[in-house]
Amino acid sequence: MNHFLDIHLTDPGHLRQIIDSAAQMKEARLGRPRGASDDDLPLKDRMVALIFEKPSTRTRVSFDLGVRQMGGQTMVLSGSDMQLGHGETIADTARVLSRYVDLIMIRTFDEAVLTEMAEFATVPVINGLTDRTHPCQIMADVMTFEEHRGPIRDRKVVWCGDGNNVCASFLHAAGQFGFDMTFAGPPTLDPEQEFVEFARARGSDIVIERDPAKAVAGADLVVTDTWVSMHDAQSARERRHNQLRPYRVDEALMSKAKPDALFMHCLPAHRDDEATSAVMDGPHSVIFDEAENRLHAQKAILRWCLEV
Ligand code: CP
Ligand code: NVA
Repeated sequence: MNHFLDIHLTDPGHLRQIIDSAAQMKEARLGRPRGASDDDLPLKDRMVALIFEKPSTRTRVSFDLGVRQMGGQTMVLSGSDMQLGHGETIADTARVLSRYVDLIMIRTFDEAVLTEMAEFATVPVINGLTDRTHPCQIMADVMTFEEHRGPIRDRKVVWCGDGNNVCASFLHAAGQFGFDMTFAGPPTLDPEQEFVEFARARGSDIVIERDPAKAVAGADLVVTDTWVSMHDAQSARERRHNQLRPYRVDEALMSKAKPDALFMHCLPAHRDDEATSAVMDGPHSVIFDEAENRLHAQKAILRWCLEV
């Protein structure tokens, strides 16, 4: 049994195995209706709990669909409707759910909820996003990059904007998959040093750059995300917008990256804030491939967790 809690906590060989298996499973389904089962049904008779303490479109739909394609069943649970949201401990919730289901995927606020769930569950636990990281997203993003451009190793990824949870998982991936990363954003919104140090300790060249134009020079991939995440106070919205506006990804900025650079955004996006529609719908953009690849990458993660 394996938990998938974070990219830096998963062996690089296993991460590679997950990406390769995702690509194979994607190919094996080409041309099939979304609701059709896979040829083999590795999750037959398995029950998966999907717990959401924050909103979700992609994570919810792609996990639910992925489990069904592999022959399993899901129950989608809202944190606020569970006793978890009314004072029952995470440890007790984990022990109880482990008597009913074969795997728990949880999207939550505090990372401690995830780690406590994993500590007390006797079934695998998957991180479906916390305030600090979003590993399933970045597995899909690595898969998407490699699908379009080949190995991500030694490439240059540029993150423009808020050094948030998605940025943190990209830094973990830089260390584990061996690519370089430049962060372009205001000093108040830098990624936590711990994430930067992890990637550097693994040999990645991690640069913090205040000038977005300088940052994107030579980029193979430009990535951004919302300026206000689900865990951020709405009262900080105006301040964040003012600080982050210089880092908006527009066509002028993209033109400074390599001519064949890709553009990614995990979505949901606030069009014309963090990135213009011209970029999101333009020739560099692979945003909807990323969204699709959530499905394939997570199916591979589920199989790895359950060793099936
Ligand atoms: N990218 C992502 O995780 O999207 P959702 O919030 O819709 O799940
Ligand atoms: N950084 C965003 C990602 C959403 C998928 C958030 O946490 O709200």
